[in-house]
Amino acid sequence: MRILVLGSGGREHALVWKLRQSPRATKVYCAPGNGGIADDAECLAADLKSLDSLVAVASQLRPDLTVVGPELPLTLGVVDEFTRRGWPVFGPTKTAAQLESSKSFAKEFLQRHHIPTAHYAICDSVDEVRAALPHFHPPVVVKADGLAAGKGVVIAQSKEEAVGVAADMLSGKMVGEAGSRVVLEECLKGDELSFLVLSDGERVAPLVAAQDHKRVDDGDTGPNTGGMGAYSTAAIIDDKMRDWLVNHIARPVVEGMKAEGAEYKGLLYCGLMMTVRGPMVLEFNCRFGDPETQPILMRLESDLVEALEASIEGRVSDGDFKWSSDASVCVVMSSGGYPGTFDAGKKISGVGEAAKINGVRVFHAGTTKRDGAYYTSGGRVLGVSARAPELEIAVRRAYDACAKITFDGAHYRKDIAARALKK
Ligand code: AMP
Ligand code: GLY
Repeated sequence: MRILVLGSGGREHALVWKLRQSPRATKVYCAPGNGGIADDAECLAADLKSLDSLVAVASQLRPDLTVVGPELPLTLGVVDEFTRRGWPVFGPTKTAAQLESSKSFAKEFLQRHHIPTAHYAICDSVDEVRAALPHFHPPVVVKADGLAAGKGVVIAQSKEEAVGVAADMLSGKMVGEAGSRVVLEECLKGDELSFLVLSDGERVAPLVAAQDHKRVDDGDTGPNTGGMGAYSTAAIIDDKMRDWLVNHIARPVVEGMKAEGAEYKGLLYCGLMMTVRGPMVLEFNCRFGDPETQPILMRLESDLVEALEASIEGRVSDGDFKWSSDASVCVVMSSGGYPGTFDAGKKISGVGEAAKINGVRVFHAGTTKRDGAYYTSGGRVLGVSARAPELEIAVRRAYDACAKITFDGAHYRKDIAARALKK
């Protein structure tokens, strides 16, 4: 079968790598892809912001399966459009993807279905923010309602700061249209957990859990990013907790969406805070996480094509995934300056050397390939990933690999999975 992956990041490189291993895959394409994906799949030009462009690519190719990586095409309705044309596609519809594209929709949905989440208020003006603030104790989390590529959440240390941030969001200064409505939230404390499940609209099958590292610098300091690294081990959550998360969060979400006439098929990413009051939902994503997908798929031992088809065809079951008990980790190497401004076009060396280390795989994100050499082209450049029977060894392998890779301004955190190793 011919498989098309939409996207251009490290997540899509990991998806391409895993999908290619399926005995059912005859050829894998990626639109638009990146410099490293081009080594593993045929890359096709496409504009992820334009449904017309994606339809044009698929109508040429007629893939037997399309896998959508990022949220933007999903929230534009790529699944609705492809399904209408009879093209098999993995992911939720535009209506179902509101769980990610509108934080106010997600919060009201959670409340309607009694799924644990932080106290909140939805505000459309600065006056509404002022009126709601007496119900909050600082710090207060201020969130833009719409998609803001990781820049739409600020933890305000005081109520005055919260008013200022909300005003900047509401005026469009901070994140444009995405901030025309804001959500205020109680600030939760605890460890964050990325809990992903596969859904066919009725049933769910959990993937192994992962932990992301969102801040740019060591010790969880500096600004938030799309994610600077992630790891996955069998020890992150035990079977009892996994079952609790399925029964009290993931399945109620999927059942609630169905009951409301917005069947949720695809990958549901539950961003959770493990608080003293129990696990609570911070956010949903309607797709695979980046960089969580890199370590998660490194532990997958069963056929990903079969699992994604089970979602499309309505036959998801608990046995859809077989996992290795090994640990895995992904260390993101980014351009200097990211998540702020950075220069692109820096020559990358050492990727081949790094990939020779046992258990290591280098997934590309912001790279291009010219005359046989890789160059940086984005903020997150590479996801240097490793798998090993012990987390400690996986981490050492990933960092040995990072040490072999150089480009001007390269930055990476030195403490990915460090807290888990201390435990
Ligand atoms: P979101 O885009 O909603 O996932 O928020 C991005 C990040 O902000 C999360 O991964 C958390 O680190 C942090 N965050 C979001 N909501 C809260 C909250 N209610 N309490 C504490 N931290 C939060
Ligand atoms: N790693 C967080 C995300 O994919 O949004």
